[in-house]
Amino acid sequence: MSNTELDEFVERVRERSDIYSVISHYVSLNQRSGKYWGLCPFHNEKTPSFSVDAAKGFFYCFGCHTGGNVFKFLSLIENISYFEAIKLQAERLGIPLPTKKLSPEEERRRREEKILLKCNALAQEFYHECLIKTARGEVGRKYLAGRGITAETIETFKLGFAPDGWEVLLNYLTRQGFSAEQLEKVGLIKRRNDNSGFYDRFRSRVMIPINDVFGHTVGFGGRILVADDNSPKYLNSPETVLFNKRNLLFGLDKAHLSISSAGFAIVVEGYMDAISLVAAGIKNVVATLGTAFTPEHAKLILRYARKIIFCYDSDEAGQRATMRALPIVQAAGAEVFIVKVPEGKDPDEFVRHRGKAAFDKLVKNAASLIDYQIDYVLAHVDINTAPGKIQALQKILPVVAKVTGVNRNEYRKKIALALVLEESVVNEEWRKFSAYAGSSHQVVTKKISEPIDPLVRTSGETILRMLWNDSELISYVTAMVPLNSFAKVHQEILLWLKSCADSGKRPNDLNAAKELSAQAFEELSRILLRKIEERDEDDVHAFEDAIKGLNYIRLKKEYVEMLARAEEYMASGNPDYREKFFEAFKIKEQMDDL
Ligand code: CTP
Ligand code: MN
Repeated sequence: MSNTELDEFVERVRERSDIYSVISHYVSLNQRSGKYWGLCPFHNEKTPSFSVDAAKGFFYCFGCHTGGNVFKFLSLIENISYFEAIKLQAERLGIPLPTKKLSPEEERRRREEKILLKCNALAQEFYHECLIKTARGEVGRKYLAGRGITAETIETFKLGFAPDGWEVLLNYLTRQGFSAEQLEKVGLIKRRNDNSGFYDRFRSRVMIPINDVFGHTVGFGGRILVADDNSPKYLNSPETVLFNKRNLLFGLDKAHLSISSAGFAIVVEGYMDAISLVAAGIKNVVATLGTAFTPEHAKLILRYARKIIFCYDSDEAGQRATMRALPIVQAAGAEVFIVKVPEGKDPDEFVRHRGKAAFDKLVKNAASLIDYQIDYVLAHVDINTAPGKIQALQKILPVVAKVTGVNRNEYRKKIALALVLEESVVNEEWRKFSAYAGSSHQVVTKKISEPIDPLVRTSGETILRMLWNDSELISYVTAMVPLNSFAKVHQEILLWLKSCADSGKRPNDLNAAKELSAQAFEELSRILLRKIEERDEDDVHAFEDAIKGLNYIRLKKEYVEMLARAEEYMASGNPDYREKFFEAFKIKEQMDDL
């Protein structure tokens, strides 16, 4: 794909993307004074400071200073790159991606992956047939029936059985034309220790196919029928070119539609937990594959919903794993809640014994991140002793410090109550903690890095807004105002607008995103979205005043400098001081003219 093909593709997608319809999919927007307003999805707020200008194609949040065009929005909200956002939007609009020329190496990899996927697909069918149709599968059927798993669920998840034997799958797939190397590469067989050949990795296990989000089987989990100490309860495919546990969530291929429509995903620890919940009618469930929850997992889920509910085993290991997952999910920008399954059960046992309604109720009453963390600390520290109380406080305060707004008081009360401490003691510790933590508990907002004189800022904004609408004016502006009168970030935008005008290109959000620095792109979004009070944005007087304003400030700076120079000269007996005074007064006259 050539660069121009790519540009044309991006333009085609942009042309058909309406920023209002895209954003209103995620944020509820209300119209006010020609723009749309809503609660910013990128930081916590109670009054809307997130604004969208559908005509110009920009959004900007006046609270956290995030801004950009439709693709920037998608990339932020979906946690994907700018280009991935373009692709996602193209898919949603049904615009075909330009076909890419693959390098020979890529071609080879593609071909190999196809073969390995085919191999897995056949293995999955083989195990499945073996479970539902053969005498050898009888033990597997009995096992699953014993766990309350119906034929329907077996069909949904294409569960299978790996028969007892060393070369059953190996022989079957070799007859289908696959080489031992291919089978080894995809993790279905292992090389014998004495190098005399290969044998089946999975034997005498109930087989759970693990699919990627498109439903291709990329690996397997195999459960032993009777747990013993000699072999692991679950045996998984090894890491292969297709199978990477960090990037895979069991069940996501079936769950993602339900996750989108429910607005949240439930994450469990085990295959069987996910299978049981889905069988009970709770369909927005995924499971990790016996590894810790990763940022990649969070990203995967965030493509479908912003809210993640953890429902790990209620035992110590499960709760510790939950605590470890929380900061990861929080950092990824998801809303987190935690369900603790009562009576020491795992979700599978709970839903089988108590049913869907009881589980739904647990989900409805899920604990917030903070409540859960406070409870966790309280349960793990002996709070009956004075040192214990202090230790608990020290663990809890950093957590609570992340809460913003009125809730803080509630949490302080709650902690005081739980630790049997005077509220004033908690408040005092809190104060000490905040002093150490500095202002880091404030909502994180991006700083507008360069301190800009307010008049320079607003004048620059007015001029740039005018130039955006009418780039013919650019030569007038550059003739009237020296570039360095503008703030640095405005200079970048101005030069860019000039380059657009010079090359006869109309400036738009697409080339702005491509050609401006991230900071300048955000500043441009801010400028275009800014509420203009009484004055019309095309007001010629405002424009002239802005030009005057910038010149005035520049002259004032020169005047002050010249005066200082003159005084310096005078103090050191340099006779040139008169000339300097004279120059300063000339500058002053120009200022007065303005
Ligand atoms: N796991 C694993 N290897 C093991 C044990 C566990 O990979 N030897 C992973 C599996 O993904 C399993 C999950 O950890 O689903 C949770 O393990 P555990 O709680 O022990 O299993 P359960 O889901 O309760 O399994 P079961 O109900 O079948 O005993
Ligand atoms: Mn279990």
